[in-house]
Amino acid sequence: MVKICCIGAGYVGGPTMAVIAFKCPEIEVVVVDIAAPRINAWNSDHLPIYEPGLDDVVKQCRGKNLFFSTDVEKHVAEADIVFVSVNTPTKTQGLGAGKAADLTYWESAARMIADVSKSDKIVVEKSTVPVKTAEAIERILTHNRKGINFNILSNPEFLAEGTAIADLFNPDRVLIGGRETPEGQKAIKALKDVYAHWVPDDRILCTNLWSAELSKLAANAFLAQRISSVNAMSALCEATGADVSQVSHSIGTDSRIGPKFLNASVGFGGSCFQKDILNLVYICECNGLPEVANYWKQVIKVNDYQKTRFVNRVVSSMFNTVSGKKIAILGFAFKKDTGDTRETPAIDVCKGLLGDKAKLAIYDPQVTEEQILRDLSMKKFDWDHPAHLQPSSPTTSTNKQVSVVWDAYEAIKDAHGICILTEWDEFKKLDYQKVFENMQKPAFVFDGRNVVDANKLREIGFIVYSIGKPLDAWLKDMPAVA
Ligand code: NAD
Ligand code: UDX
Repeated sequence: MVKICCIGAGYVGGPTMAVIAFKCPEIEVVVVDIAAPRINAWNSDHLPIYEPGLDDVVKQCRGKNLFFSTDVEKHVAEADIVFVSVNTPTKTQGLGAGKAADLTYWESAARMIADVSKSDKIVVEKSTVPVKTAEAIERILTHNRKGINFNILSNPEFLAEGTAIADLFNPDRVLIGGRETPEGQKAIKALKDVYAHWVPDDRILCTNLWSAELSKLAANAFLAQRISSVNAMSALCEATGADVSQVSHSIGTDSRIGPKFLNASVGFGGSCFQKDILNLVYICECNGLPEVANYWKQVIKVNDYQKTRFVNRVVSSMFNTVSGKKIAILGFAFKKDTGDTRETPAIDVCKGLLGDKAKLAIYDPQVTEEQILRDLSMKKFDWDHPAHLQPSSPTTSTNKQVSVVWDAYEAIKDAHGICILTEWDEFKKLDYQKVFENMQKPAFVFDGRNVVDANKLREIGFIVYSIGKPLDAWLKDMPAVA
């Protein structure tokens, strides 16, 4: 029996290993983590992450060939294949702070693997890492020269949150990079055999190590670049009377461009895009490629601009001040079907509105009050350091201006404006007549995800702003936003 151990029971380690266990009943999979609360949650009825379809997969395998444990060293020592899926946040201090990947967690995992191993192992980079990380990891693994062979592979993960199970069941591709030596090729084959249980041969791509590592950063940079491109167009649409949905559809029908990932929004969020582009920028700078670095930096700048533009639009539409006004925030997660708030645009939008002294009533069906208050009081880049290391008490000033409620109608009651920041389906289905009656007038809706039917809402009496869509007369008359 092949034994797999995965270090890191997070958004990637948990779902990917659950699917491997589900598809490969003869393989024993143990997911380990230093965070005991996370492991306890994986072993309970309330999994630590919300992901459609995940509960079923875990329930079917847990206790049979899928296990979650805090006994990291024991399970690493016993495994043939060790996946490392720890967090690789942006550095907050020192050389490369604000850009470079912080490989502290990766390095400590690699040192532990080297120390506890008594048999040969394949070590798989599942985390997203800078290109050439495998070289450093190899050095760490072999530092105590015990005569054990470690073969390192890069197997970056392409799942998106909210659709993780569907993505894992039916991936566009699985990418495996390894050394071009006979041992490296043997290791690639061993990992390929695992995925071959359910992934067709032509979708398992094998490359050298550096191509696999860089492809992950490149894929995220290209995806994020599409969103910044369409968001840049959304600003021009608002200025000219064009409709960004029509523009997206028109360009997306060109098969070279394709229709996916062209939805204008208040900005992209999530734990990957910004972090990985900053990392790419840093690598380009370190390799003496400032023009390339600046090109990718612009993707982040446009994303920041989009969030600022949204806040400015809200404030300028509401007579240039939101001081003391209640604003309902609908949706806090970085996209629908997840409770994840890492780098969600809602954080910057809420902070912008709080900066103008608004009172916020926030509702998200999957995000807890504790999480929201922690996010609003945390410093940039601190979020991706494990939760057990985070300070958890939010500042009192945030507490006074923010309330978190468990119902959209409660958030909206007596509000002057509504900001829709996550595209949860339930926001399309609200009774907007009732909503209108319960709000202060004029009643504003700022739709950062283009989920509502703006014309219907206008008939009810709302003033509606939809990203990248022709502006209401009211909004046109307000001072221009930058
Ligand atoms: P996460 O923070 O949810 O999980 C990482 C886990 O690793 C945490 O539970 C932490 O406690 C644990 N950990 C850290 N150091 C450890 C150690 N030394 N020993 C044992 N456990 C340790 O992160 P994630 O979202 O699962 O991301 C993991 C990696 O995968 C990152 O590099 C990320 O960039 C990449 N990735 C993420 C996604 C995504 O959608 N979230 C998609 C593709 C790739
Ligand atoms: C992303 C990549 O898609 C995935 O392949 C990688 O493994 C991890 O990073 P994720 O961040 O989970 O996945 O979600 P994704 O669907 O890519 O959305 C990222 C952000 O972009 C979200 O805030 C989303 O709302 C936004 N987005 C996405 C848009 O604003 N417009 C779009 O058209 C698509």
